Amino acid sequence: MELILYNGEMIKRSEAKIDIEDRGFQFGDGVYEVIRIYNGQPFALEPHLDRLYESAKKIYLEIPYSKSELKNLISSFIDLEKVNVCNFYLQISRGASVRNHLLPEKSTPTLIGYFLEGPRPINLMEKGGKVVLAEDTRWFHCDIKSISLLGNVMARHKATMAGGFEGILHRGPIITEATAANVWIGKNGKLYTHPPSNLILNGITRQILLQLCQKHGIPVEEKAFTVEELFQADEVFLTSTTLEVVPVIKVDDAVIGTGTPGPLTRNLQQLYEKKVMEECGALVKGHTGQIR
Ligand code: PDD
Repeated sequence: MELILYNGEMIKRSEAKIDIEDRGFQFGDGVYEVIRIYNGQPFALEPHLDRLYESAKKIYLEIPYSKSELKNLISSFIDLEKVNVCNFYLQISRGASVRNHLLPEKSTPTLIGYFLEGPRPINLMEKGGKVVLAEDTRWFHCDIKSISLLGNVMARHKATMAGGFEGILHRGPIITEATAANVWIGKNGKLYTHPPSNLILNGITRQILLQLCQKHGIPVEEKAFTVEELFQADEVFLTSTTLEVVPVIKVDDAVIGTGTPGPLTRNLQQLYEKKVMEECGALVKGHTGQIR
């Protein structure tokens, strides 16, 4: 995968150049999306692009491509690279301008898009994993999918150093989300996840699962829960484009529930896979069933 999408063209990665005064580089001034490709098809492309435009609008950045132009570019790029299962990173910065905190009156945004290998995390999905709690020290615009990710990066570092695959963030007593995923708990047969607000990214996976819960009569409430409630939960899981639905069986050194993935988690894993197969035809090219 040596090509990248660069300002509307597909060029060799080694030929792409970013100006040192690109505001993405200087200020983290830009937004992005991560779109999962299954069976050579983008999954949930429409809501991901909608969120990209929403994030851009919130930082007063005008994307110089229409949604249908972006869709066409992505689909040509997929055809050219003949990808199967991977992640597509689409990033847009405000572009180059003489360094100044003030927003430039005019600048040409820099758009890049590229594929990264990303097999489904089957082992984690099957067995679940440990997460580590970290104080949420990020800003108050977490609804924007900003490329400024230092708060997330530092919390992930802390979690990894303590043996977790992810970090779960809390603002005081309230759990917000993970460093790159949304957090859910199950208690007495009902699911809870933080409501959309400026404190979390309203995950596309999260939104799809909420719709699936509604369709299949699974009780769910978008309600913030506490660190204490997290430890007392029957089951905990994380959701994101790259993780899908991953069970959490340990938080710090405490075992959650029975220490194995719970029934609600298993149910949502299956419903999500089914949804992907409906939209993309298969999870992995050449396979028609569930790959687990
Ligand atoms: N992260 N919260 C945060 C902070 C995230 O970075 C992500 C996604 C999510 C889940 O959103 P979605 O379901 O739309 O992927 C929640 C992506 C995968 C990333 O930055 O790599």
